[in-house]
Amino acid sequence: MSNYHIKHLEEYYQVYRKSVRNPEAFWEEIAEEHFVWRKKWDSVLNWDFKKPEVKWFEGAQLNITENCIDRHLTTRGDKTAILFEPNNPKEEALHITYSQLHERVSKMANVLKEQGVKKGDRVCIYLPMIPELAVAVLACARIGAIHSVVFAGFSSNALSTRINDSDCKIVLTSDGSYRGAKTIDLKGIVDKALEDSPGVTSVLVVNRINSDINMKEGRDQWLQPLLDDAYGDCVPEIMNAEDPLFILYTSGSTGKPKGMVHTTAGYMVYTAYTFKNIFQYKEDDIYWCTADIGWITGHSYILYGPLANGATTVMFEGVPSYPDYGRFWEVVEKHKVNQFYTAPTAIRALAKENLEYVEKYDLSSLKVLGSVGEPINEEAWHWYNNNVGKKQSPIVDTWWQTETGGIMISPIPYVTPTTPTFATLPFIGIQPALMDENGKEIKDNQIDGRLCIKFPWPSIARTIWGNHERYRDTYFSAYENKYFTGDGAHRDAVGYYRITGRVDDVIIVSGHNLGTAPIEDAINEHPAIAESAIVGFPHDVKGNALYGYVILKETGEGRDRDNLKKEINQQITEHIGPIAKLDKIQFVSGLPKTRSGKIMRRILRKIASKETSNLGDTSTLLNPEVIKEIMENAF
Ligand code: PRX
Repeated sequence: MSNYHIKHLEEYYQVYRKSVRNPEAFWEEIAEEHFVWRKKWDSVLNWDFKKPEVKWFEGAQLNITENCIDRHLTTRGDKTAILFEPNNPKEEALHITYSQLHERVSKMANVLKEQGVKKGDRVCIYLPMIPELAVAVLACARIGAIHSVVFAGFSSNALSTRINDSDCKIVLTSDGSYRGAKTIDLKGIVDKALEDSPGVTSVLVVNRINSDINMKEGRDQWLQPLLDDAYGDCVPEIMNAEDPLFILYTSGSTGKPKGMVHTTAGYMVYTAYTFKNIFQYKEDDIYWCTADIGWITGHSYILYGPLANGATTVMFEGVPSYPDYGRFWEVVEKHKVNQFYTAPTAIRALAKENLEYVEKYDLSSLKVLGSVGEPINEEAWHWYNNNVGKKQSPIVDTWWQTETGGIMISPIPYVTPTTPTFATLPFIGIQPALMDENGKEIKDNQIDGRLCIKFPWPSIARTIWGNHERYRDTYFSAYENKYFTGDGAHRDAVGYYRITGRVDDVIIVSGHNLGTAPIEDAINEHPAIAESAIVGFPHDVKGNALYGYVILKETGEGRDRDNLKKEINQQITEHIGPIAKLDKIQFVSGLPKTRSGKIMRRILRKIASKETSNLGDTSTLLNPEVIKEIMENAF
C-alpha cells in the first residue's frame, strides 16, 4: 500500500525520504493505486530543467473527469459534490450530487461540442462563482478542450488580452454577477472586450441576475435552452498524460500576463494527494475554500483536488462582508464546515470588526484552518487561531504559486507542529533549495536566501502558452538546473521555511499577484502623464498596497491634481481591474535612475514604506537630487 494518507510526523519524514530518494517509484505507486487510467504510462518521469522540459506519466491515457466524477458514481452518486452557497443568504443553498454533476457536465460538454469546440481548442470562461463555472471547467476537461478561466473581476481590456493570447473562439459568461449588495454588468464587459477580440465567434450566456442585456445576433446565445436540449451523457475524450488541461494567466514583473500551461496526469495526481493530506480530508467532511475559481487556488483546491477525492466542496458566490462581517462564520455553522481555507487579507479585514461577528456562530465543526496567497502575519495568525479555531484547529499556512499547480510548503495538520508565520516543511516530493547572491546553494539553517526547487514535482506548469523561451528565462535561467520561485525565504534551525516575500517586481496585494509593468503601462497611456513607477508598501489589511510616483507632461502641469488621481485609478480599472488601483499617488518631477536608465525601485520602496533612515547607496544615481524632493512630498 502506498502512503496516500499521512497520519503522524514520523510517517511524514519516512515518506518524505522515500519520495526524494526514489521519486519515480514513489509517484508511480500513488498514481497506480488511487486513480483510474485508460492506459498506464510507459515512463514515470522525463525531465531536463535546462531545456526546460518536464514530463510525468508519459504514455498514460486518462480523462480527469472520470477521476473527479464517474468513478465516484457507484459509491458516492448521491453524495454532494458541490455545495453552492449563493451571495444572498436568503437564496437557498444548492447541493449538487456526484450524479447530478455528471449529468450537468455531460450536457455542458455536449453543448460545447455542438458549438464546434474540439480537443485542444481553448475556451475562455468569464463567469462569477456560480455552479455553471465549475460545470464549464469540467465540461472542457471532459472533451479535451483547454479551459482558460479569467477572474470575473478583471476589466474588458485584461479579458481581451487573455482571449487573444490563447486564441479563444468561444467565451462563456453571464448576464451579470452579484457581489454583496452590488451587481456587476459582466456581459457589458465581455461586449467591450470582444471589440478587440474579433476571433470570438460564439458567446454563451448564463442568466444569473435576470438583467436586460444586449445579445449580438449570430454570436451570443442564452446557455440554458441549449443545456435543456443537450443529451445528459458524454463519452469522455481520452487524453494523453501530458495533454494541456488548462491555461491560467498570472502577472509577471514585465510584459503581458503569462499563460501558465498545466497538463493532465501530473496535475491530477499532485492536487489530489496534497488535498487529501494538507486538509486531512475524511469521507463525510464538508470542505470550504473561499477563493475564486478564477485563481489557481480555486482550480486546484475547489475543483480538481477535492473532486478527485470524492469530497464535498463548498462554492461560495458572495463576499465576507455581506450582508455583514459574520457571513463566513454563518456559512461555517450552517453547513458544518470541517476544513476552511482562506487568505490572510480576509482574516485581517475580519479581525478589524467586532468579535461578536465570530462569537455569534457555532464553529465547533472546524478541524483544519488554511491560509494561502501571501505571508500571514503573526497578529492575523493568532486571531485566526484563537477566535476561529479556538486553539483546536491547526492552521496550515500553505505556500505555492500558479506555476506550481499545487501546495509546495505546508504543515500537515495534526502531523507537523505549527509555528506562526512559518509555512514549515516541504510537502512530500518537494525539494527546496535556498540560494545565495552568488548563485550557490546554502546548506546551513537559520539563514535567508532565494527560494528554488531543485527537482520536478508532478504539477509544475510545463510552459507559458506560446512562449517557451519566456518560460525558460523567467524560471530556469537565474540558477542552473533549478526552478526559481521569485520568492525569498528564511530557513530556521529546525529546517522550517518562512516565506519573506517577492524578490522581483511582482507585488502581492490582498493575495493577488500584480506586476508593476502592466500597471505602469496603463497609467502612462493617460495623455497628461509622461512616466510612472509603482512600488508596494505595507498595508494592514491588504498586506501590501500600491504607491505610484507619477511624472506629468508639461501639458498636464496645470491640471487639477485630485481629478488626475481619480483618472489614473480609472485608467487602471479599465486596463486591469479595480484590484490594481493605487492607494497613494505622488506627483514628482523625476524618478531616481541609474546611469543606464533603470528606475531605482529599492529607494522608492523605502520612501513609500517610510523607511528613509537608510536609503542605501545612492551614489550611482544619475539624478540624486530628486530623492530630496520625493521625500519631502511623500505621505
Ligand atoms: O509570493 C508568494 C505568495 O504568492 C505568490 C504566488 O501567487 P499566485 O501565483 O497568485 O498564487 C497564489 C495562490 C497559490 C508566491 O510567489 N504566496 C502564496 N502563498 C503564500 C505566499 N507567500 C507567503 N506565504 C504563503 N503561504
